[in-house]
Amino acid sequence: MTLTPTRTEVEALLPVVGGDTQVPLLDGSWVTYANLDGAASTPALQVVADRVADVMPWYASVHRGAGYLSQVSTALYEEARTEIAAFVDAREDDLTIITRNTTDSINLLASVVPGKVLVIDVEHHANFLPWQSHPQGVTIVVGSATVAGTLDRIEAELEGETYALVAITGASNVTGEALPLDRVVAVAHQHGARVLVDGAQLLAHRRFSLRETDADYVAFSAHKLYAPYGAGALVGRADWLDAGPAYLSGGGAVRQVHLRDTTWQAGPARHEGGTPNLIGAVALAAACTTLAGLDEQAWAEHERVLRERLVAGLESIEGVRIARLWVDSEEPVGVLTFTMEDTEPGYLAAYLAAEHGLGVRDGRFCAHPLLARLDLPLGAIRVSVGLATTGEDVDRLVAGLRAFVAGQIKGDYRLVDGLWHLENDSRPLPQIDGLLALADTAGLCTSD
Ligand SMILES: Cc1ncc(COP(=O)(O)O)c(C=O)c1O
Repeated sequence: MTLTPTRTEVEALLPVVGGDTQVPLLDGSWVTYANLDGAASTPALQVVADRVADVMPWYASVHRGAGYLSQVSTALYEEARTEIAAFVDAREDDLTIITRNTTDSINLLASVVPGKVLVIDVEHHANFLPWQSHPQGVTIVVGSATVAGTLDRIEAELEGETYALVAITGASNVTGEALPLDRVVAVAHQHGARVLVDGAQLLAHRRFSLRETDADYVAFSAHKLYAPYGAGALVGRADWLDAGPAYLSGGGAVRQVHLRDTTWQAGPARHEGGTPNLIGAVALAAACTTLAGLDEQAWAEHERVLRERLVAGLESIEGVRIARLWVDSEEPVGVLTFTMEDTEPGYLAAYLAAEHGLGVRDGRFCAHPLLARLDLPLGAIRVSVGLATTGEDVDRLVAGLRAFVAGQIKGDYRLVDGLWHLENDSRPLPQIDGLLALADTAGLCTSD
């Protein structure tokens, strides 16, 4: 039986750096790492890494300096901004602000929103915490078990009170599901509220257009878009951004500074204080342009096949339960979460890594309120598939889970300081200068 898509087909779609990295297993053998955790961070596309290597010899200060290389670097930075804006189909008068990541983008927007905000309880903490403490107030709508019911609750809230903004995820980082954005935007606009789309997950899986959805803002991260060089973006309406306080006070954000007062820049510069991340911006732009050039149908088909294979495989294993947000949601992106009866997720994740070379995520996925509502207080396992995932990766996961259920567990796993790890781990380290040991995750894993 062929495992579709094969490694060759995936490489043909878009090669990534490290797509064939070999990792050691507990029994001394080696396998190609199966990265099923792209929802946390994706590897770099080869074209992105190549672009970074091309630009590096031309690297110099951005927006400061008359030297030839500074002029090249400044031009590359501003061209990157244009490519990033095009990727989300920004309107002509939208601003594109280059940030560090989605968290940064949403915190930036939160610093300028001039009124009350509405969020639902399914959000990642990045699109929840900045609003929880919003000075103009927030309403947190608890989602219902259906899309229709959740939309009704949002609408009822918007009818009862005036909101400046509805902040909503484009795709859940827990289940890959989403509310129909066009409906959310329509109902919000009808009641005079703007819409922020948290695009951190959505944009790695689907085309997104500010113009077509009529959403007002989108926030996203390069490290989830195959460009892990430290950038992110916030794109959207200029007026609040130009009226609000500078997000990062410092060089570049000002027109004139006097001892007692300052005249601030308008436009992106107002919020991009300090020296910009040229390499991050160029990498993000390269990823944007590459993803925009993908055959949309081939991309969608690649993911659909993998997700269906994954769901079918998981459903065939006794004791596995796949979490759902909305029973009537359609076309989730390639992210899902499951639990296995009577099994601690961290234990299972450690076993899958050490005995099958699989990278999955366990925990509460920075979505504590949602996990509590889904009655998963101890967390779950998240699996994500994307451009670099093969059918073999998915099948290896399913086979690994079957072996686990059958009791074929070779390692001894211990819970230390709340985190599972392999006892007597003798897997060799890669030959990377300065790497002395694998991270003892106890104490280092700050993101649950
Ligand atoms: C839906 C969603 N929003 C926001 C974020 C935060 O992204 P970052 O950590 O890149 O700021 C994540 C990260 O997992 C996410 O999945």
